[in-house]
Amino acid sequence: MSLAELQKIEVTAARSYPVFLGAPLEELGEYLHSQFKDVEHILIVTNQVVAELYAERLQKGLLDYRVNLLTVPAGETEKSLERLSQLTTAALRCGADRHTLVIALGGGVIGDLAGFFASVFMRGIRLIQVPTTLLAQVDSSIGGKVAVNHPAGKNIIGAFYPPRAVWTDFTTLESLPWSEVENGLAESIKHALITDSGLFEFFETQEESIKQRDPVIWREMVTRSSTVKVTIVSQDEQEQGLRALLNLGHSFGHALETAMNYRGVTHGQGVSIGLVAAAYLANAKGLMTGAEVDRIKHLLNTYGLPIEIKGQDPEVLLHLMQADKKNQGGRKILILPQGTGQAVIARDCTDAEILDAWKQVISV
Ligand SMILES: NC(=O)c1ccc[n+]([C@@H]2O[C@H](COP(=O)([O-])OP(=O)(O)OC[C@H]3O[C@@H](n4cnc5c(N)ncnc54)[C@H](O)[C@@H]3O)[C@@H](O)[C@H]2O)c1
Repeated sequence: MSLAELQKIEVTAARSYPVFLGAPLEELGEYLHSQFKDVEHILIVTNQVVAELYAERLQKGLLDYRVNLLTVPAGETEKSLERLSQLTTAALRCGADRHTLVIALGGGVIGDLAGFFASVFMRGIRLIQVPTTLLAQVDSSIGGKVAVNHPAGKNIIGAFYPPRAVWTDFTTLESLPWSEVENGLAESIKHALITDSGLFEFFETQEESIKQRDPVIWREMVTRSSTVKVTIVSQDEQEQGLRALLNLGHSFGHALETAMNYRGVTHGQGVSIGLVAAAYLANAKGLMTGAEVDRIKHLLNTYGLPIEIKGQDPEVLLHLMQADKKNQGGRKILILPQGTGQAVIARDCTDAEILDAWKQVISV
């Protein structure tokens, strides 16, 4: 396939960049040649799992470059200042300079870590995101947020650092375990709920094909879901307003993940339960009908995502929501769905209403 034939959507922001969809890993080199004449050295940052699966395919197209593969272990704990420092040492040993280009090959962890590294190494070097998980393809690789974690919290040390391009090869999703697919599905269903009722219906009607990983249907799913993210960040790159909608389900979900100490609940599961809690709250606020709440629950359930959690204390969860970054002046700011294709920023939810929503997703 020639570069001109590749499908792409454009993030139009302070610095615009293309998101290529269905772009073979082997062809990234050709694109880099066409765009960045001064690049001679490339650092591929990836993890051991992804390196084994896909580094060779990517490197096939990079034979004209001096390439170093920097591999870190898999896992969220790699998003640390220690790992950032080690990457810096390794990069310097490889002779990296301000003309070096970084390729982040992996899921959201690698995208965030390598992206943050690119943002600060010699005050910023060029970055290409090559997402290999569903979550990274529909969400984290788009929008320029990069970060590492701090003991005080996730993504505390970060930046807005847009990539020069996002290069999405759908075939990398073939090896993704279903548990990881679920994390991406939770975010994709969230995207549908925020702006695209047609996408919500697509998830309702394509259950079998999605579960069987039909490549044509997956292509459509990733394309439509990443388009939602592109559209939102193009209008509000720095999260001054609209981009906050992407937090739908996350205020509840983060509180749950924190309460459970990030054990026994994945991010996707937290978001799923958070979406249901937000739907109950939206129902209480007159933003959606009980039938719509049931549709959301049914859809999440269809894909194996949880819609309730056992044995949590709603008061504790409510308290944990006080730490949410969106809150202003002690008031809780929540994103609520309005039907199944629109969302609003709600500033008037009382603690009693939020508590009630929590109670409806907690089973004994
Ligand atoms: N920057 C943003 O805007 C943004 C948005 C959402 C989430 N995030 C971040 O993303 C991270 C989560 O990302 P994730 O869900 O992609 O998890 P991840 O990066 O940890 O990847 C999940 C697992 O899948 C493996 N993997 C990756 N690609 C694979 C493939 N093609 N085949 C088989 N296995 C593969 C990885 O080795 C890992 O074990 C979190 O740190 C979160 O904070 C960032």
